[in-house]
Amino acid sequence: MARAGLRVLVIDMDPQGNASTALSIPHLSGTAGIYDVLIDGVPMSDVVRETPQVPGLWCVPATIDLAGAEIELVPLVARENRLRRALTAFLDSRAPGEQFDMVLIDCPPSLGLLTVNAFVAAREVLIPIQCEYYALEGLSQLLKNVELIQQHLNSDLEVSTILLTMFDARTRLASDVADQVREHFGEKVLRVVIPRSVRISEAPSHGETVITYDPASSGALSYMEAAAQMRQQEVLV
Ligand SMILES: Nc1ncnc2c1ncn2[C@@H]1O[C@H](COP(=O)(O)OP(=O)(O)OP(=O)(O)O)[C@@H](O)[C@H]1O
Ligand SMILES: [Mg+2]
Repeated sequence: MARAGLRVLVIDMDPQGNASTALSIPHLSGTAGIYDVLIDGVPMSDVVRETPQVPGLWCVPATIDLAGAEIELVPLVARENRLRRALTAFLDSRAPGEQFDMVLIDCPPSLGLLTVNAFVAAREVLIPIQCEYYALEGLSQLLKNVELIQQHLNSDLEVSTILLTMFDARTRLASDVADQVREHFGEKVLRVVIPRSVRISEAPSHGETVITYDPASSGALSYMEAAAQMRQQEVLV
């Protein structure tokens, strides 16, 4: 998205900090990040950083401290709304030439208060689905949670986009999973699939996404195509 000229903000809400790692944003324990925003009310403008490799791509990092936030959030006032409030205040404070075109929130794998905060702050849910059997098992629980959030906390939320990943064209299972997902979600499933790729696995160890690490690889090209299809979808909505 940023490569196409959009100004993009990535908020890392996963204590593992994988999005921060891949974008080369320091996130050792103690670094100011989304934890401080959620728990201590630090303004998001104090912790956001522009990524060194891609101009126009910004990141609010997550440190391992965020693992504790899942419990620390419980007694706090408006515990489900803390990300939404901080994000709205941040976006409202930006000067006209500094507005973001898109905000992406990377969620943790569990469905606790951090993910609830993300669902309350967001308008759309993008679900990457690995073309494996287990992925389908987790999916129905995820969809139930999205429904609960729609009913009680954020009626605007919708699952807008599904991206099939880890696709191995040699296996029958991968095609079966892809077919089932397309049957169920129809148009929401992006036409492009992300192939299983060694370059994608290698990229994070260099503090990069596959798009800067090996731009000509099949993995990078398919992620670029996924971004293009999402922009097109955006125009059509
Ligand atoms: N080698 C690979 N080939 C193709 N796609 C991959 C590969 N490795 C990861 N992916 C995809 O890239 C995305 C990010 O991978 P990552 O390992 O961060 O997984 P994740 O689903 O975010 O897991 P976690 O729950 O640990 O955060 C996922 O959608 C995953 O399916
Ligand atoms: Mg992740």
